[in-house]
Amino acid sequence: MTAQARGQREQRAVSVAGDAGASETRDMDSFTTSRLRATRLAADDLDDLVALHLDPDVSRYLGGVRTPQATADYLETNLRHWAEHGVGVWTLRTNDGTYAGRAGLRYLDVEGVAELEIGYSFAKTLWGRGFATEIAHALVEIWRTRRADPSLIGLVMKQNLASERVLQKVGLSYESDTILHGEKCGVFRLWR
Ligand SMILES: CC(C)(COP(=O)(O)OP(=O)(O)OC[C@H]1O[C@@H](n2cnc3c(N)ncnc32)[C@H](O)[C@@H]1OP(=O)(O)O)[C@@H](O)C(=O)NCCC(=O)NCCS
Repeated sequence: MTAQARGQREQRAVSVAGDAGASETRDMDSFTTSRLRATRLAADDLDDLVALHLDPDVSRYLGGVRTPQATADYLETNLRHWAEHGVGVWTLRTNDGTYAGRAGLRYLDVEGVAELEIGYSFAKTLWGRGFATEIAHALVEIWRTRRADPSLIGLVMKQNLASERVLQKVGLSYESDTILHGEKCGVFRLWR
């Protein structure tokens, strides 16, 4: 990593401390794209999330199938993330109200730096129709217009080529490899 990049990473760590407070989050509780409605993750999303995480294909590159208890813990962690950072995971539904999956912007410790990470996971029946690209465009726009972080990252396990492609389509570029939860991941990044 160059000295300039290291300096920018250090600046980022500082900017995270200046997160938006609750007043700024209220109008981010929901948003729409042309085919999706996103609503701030809530306790009553548990059943849909459990079903999503029990699908081995969906969970293949997310650390494997999660038990209902592991998903309950995930939900609690991510409710707390919203409260602490004013941003987090949204629940996604298609225009007819069908549960579609989840997507979000979350802070993640990558090699000691708190990085804002874009993420998305869809029910398998919806794959291959451009939904991930659609929500990723919206999340990039939210990062650009509503957050101060100088860059946005995506972390993708090495074999997850569909997810890599989505990140590239919305402007993130491969930067380096890292190990997360024991798995080799590519770090993709978009600077402001
Ligand atoms: C990864 C995931 C979000 C993609 O969702 P999606 O709605 O199918 O994605 P999109 O249709 O918007 O775009 C997928 C792109 O990847 C491409 N793609 C799909 N499979 C691919 C593969 N095996 N190799 C290379 N490219 C592939 C598609 O052709 C498409 O690119 P294109 O528009 O240039 O043709 C979805 O498969 C998913 O939810 N997976 C499980 C959870 C997950 O892995 N989340 C990401 C964690 S980092």
